[in-house]
Amino acid sequence: MSFFSVKKLSKSFGGLQANHMIDLEVEKGEIRGVIGPNGAGKTTFFNVVSGFYAPSSGTVEFKGQVISGLSSSKIAKMGVVRTFQRPALFPDFTVLENVVVARHLNADASLMNAIFRHNNKAEAGNLKRAKEIIDFLGLEQEQDNLAANLSHGHQRVLGVAMALATEPELLMLDEPVAGMNSGEKAIMVDHVKKIRDDWGITILLVEHDMKTVMNLCDKITVLDFGEKLAEGLPEEIIHNKKVIEAYLGADEIVA
Ligand SMILES: Nc1ncnc2c1ncn2[C@@H]1O[C@H](COP(=O)(O)OP(=O)(O)OP(=O)(O)O)[C@@H](O)[C@H]1O
Ligand SMILES: [Mg+2]
Repeated sequence: MSFFSVKKLSKSFGGLQANHMIDLEVEKGEIRGVIGPNGAGKTTFFNVVSGFYAPSSGTVEFKGQVISGLSSSKIAKMGVVRTFQRPALFPDFTVLENVVVARHLNADASLMNAIFRHNNKAEAGNLKRAKEIIDFLGLEQEQDNLAANLSHGHQRVLGVAMALATEPELLMLDEPVAGMNSGEKAIMVDHVKKIRDDWGITILLVEHDMKTVMNLCDKITVLDFGEKLAEGLPEEIIHNKKVIEAYLGADEIVA
């Protein structure tokens, strides 16, 4: 039984096949890159796996259970969680409040409970765990600052903190270093390594930045026009003729 397995997954929007017959197997503890030119279907793949869209056909299995077709909150509760290509945070909440609230988004307690009942035992636990996650990702200096006032790099780290707050076993990161400067990228790369190495969380990484992909990924899956074009070790993929052709005219593959 694989940890995570996708079989013949397809998703169409009207006549457009955004994902077509994708097969994918990921082992526990792996960092898997999912790359491909703009419009290749990477975000759609994340949307289908995480339950934001139902697949048109095919299945997704996590730890031996079929998760395709379940709601996104159910899938998140089972441990499969994604971040968004654009930051999805509460700008008028502090960093700490954002992470505490994120702990409730997939939990049974209501959002109101999260915000107004900080004094019960469960809330004390949530607050403690939120602080651990903030420390783990080096955001402790920013803890009491409003999310709106953070740098772009810190906002993206906060997005990862909010995903970690739901205690995922499989974390899907959609372009985590997009728009970052090289210093911010290096910090994010370290965070992703630590999330896998220290916390044992399996990672699916969609990313255009090839340096980041090459630094992080154990294996890479390439999508093109919604289909799987190639799969292999980073050094195989970067020299793969079909992959280079798919990227011709695009500048992303230049590592
Ligand atoms: N909700 C939707 N409705 C209709 N078409 C969609 C929808 N979501 C995605 N698409 C289309 O599906 C195709 C794949 O898009 P997707 O966003 O998955 O690509 P991507 O690989 O993530 O691209 P990028 O690298 O630019 O983020 C595109 O042609 C896109 O226009
Ligand atoms: Mg995308």
